[in-house]
Amino acid sequence: MEEHKTLVIGASGQIGTELTLALRHRYGGESVIAADLKRDADLLKGAGPFLPLDVMDKMTLQVQVRRNNIKTIYLLAAMLSASGEQQPQLAWKLNMESLLNTLEVAREEGVQKVFWPSSIAVFGPDAPRVDCPQNAWSTPATVYGISKLSGEQWCHYYFKRYGVDIRSIRYPGLISYKTLPGGGTTDYAIEIYHAAVRGEKYTCFLKEDARLPMMYMDDAVRGTIELMEAPASRITVRTAYNLAGISFTPAEIAAEIKQLVPGFSIDYKPDYRQAIAETWPESINDQTARSDWGWKPEYGLRRMSEEMLRNIRPELAMTTKHG
Ligand code: NAD
Ligand code: SER
Repeated sequence: MEEHKTLVIGASGQIGTELTLALRHRYGGESVIAADLKRDADLLKGAGPFLPLDVMDKMTLQVQVRRNNIKTIYLLAAMLSASGEQQPQLAWKLNMESLLNTLEVAREEGVQKVFWPSSIAVFGPDAPRVDCPQNAWSTPATVYGISKLSGEQWCHYYFKRYGVDIRSIRYPGLISYKTLPGGGTTDYAIEIYHAAVRGEKYTCFLKEDARLPMMYMDDAVRGTIELMEAPASRITVRTAYNLAGISFTPAEIAAEIKQLVPGFSIDYKPDYRQAIAETWPESINDQTARSDWGWKPEYGLRRMSEEMLRNIRPELAMTTKHG
């Protein structure tokens, strides 16, 4: 019998690269196909198949899913919050059409499981800012948040109406060293480590007290795989699960870095991303994920900071972008 395969769309991005590595480690290199508009990330080269793919081209997506006997899809292609506010129409088009194409192909081709990430951006200024509950009602303030909230409803609809087993997490800001971030409001929490490794002062685009929910990439990847491997009977949320890791402010992460890199300094020059951050909760209640499928984060600020600073290579440290 032909082997069932997994397709990761958006595999060259921040999460896609690390998730593909983890899936290949777990299920075998050949059974996980990385796909992206961009060429494959250096870390993925030679470790398994790569497919150049535009997820907006539904017919090609369908042909590839059928030809490769794809039974699980991870859809990670999207435009994030900060980039999305620069190009709202394009963000909406990419974020919605990529999901609808994937859901339709999954339904038509009998794909067994789909993962699609939502975000804390589904919550807007009217949601509780502290310990934001799973079912908080909210009006998101960014086109990115609107696309994630609508996407969650589409996932719920495809599950209820067609039985597509689609699972989702509202990721907080994800922090990683293996790949660079892709245009989010939480990217400062990666840039700051790169500046520290280069021995430079960091100018933060958020205010010093902008507390946001964050998570180390290892926790996010582990949580994603745990959710996907959980028995369907444990999954009570078919929109997207709240997931919490660590909540901190720029001043707090800077203080932590100063303890590990004496002499590190920071100043603040808030830009349009501060307005986005102000609409999001400070912290997230993830009790439902914990009780449904056993979610538990492992990384705190200290452990994450030590790993980030140990692993970012100075010669590859990114230069800080503003705007
Ligand atoms: P990213 O921008 O780093 O990666 C996205 C990848 O998708 C890129 O490699 C890009 O080339 C690819 N892509 C874009 N358009 C495509 C297309 N038409 N066809 C095929 N590939 C295409 O993003 P990321 O940070 O890895 O985020 C992945 C997902 O996780 C997104 O849905 C994002 O909203 C969600 N998310 C991310 C974070 C975070 O902090 N990174 C937080 C919450 C949710
Ligand atoms: N990290 C993401 C962003 O800032 C949250 O979804 O856009």
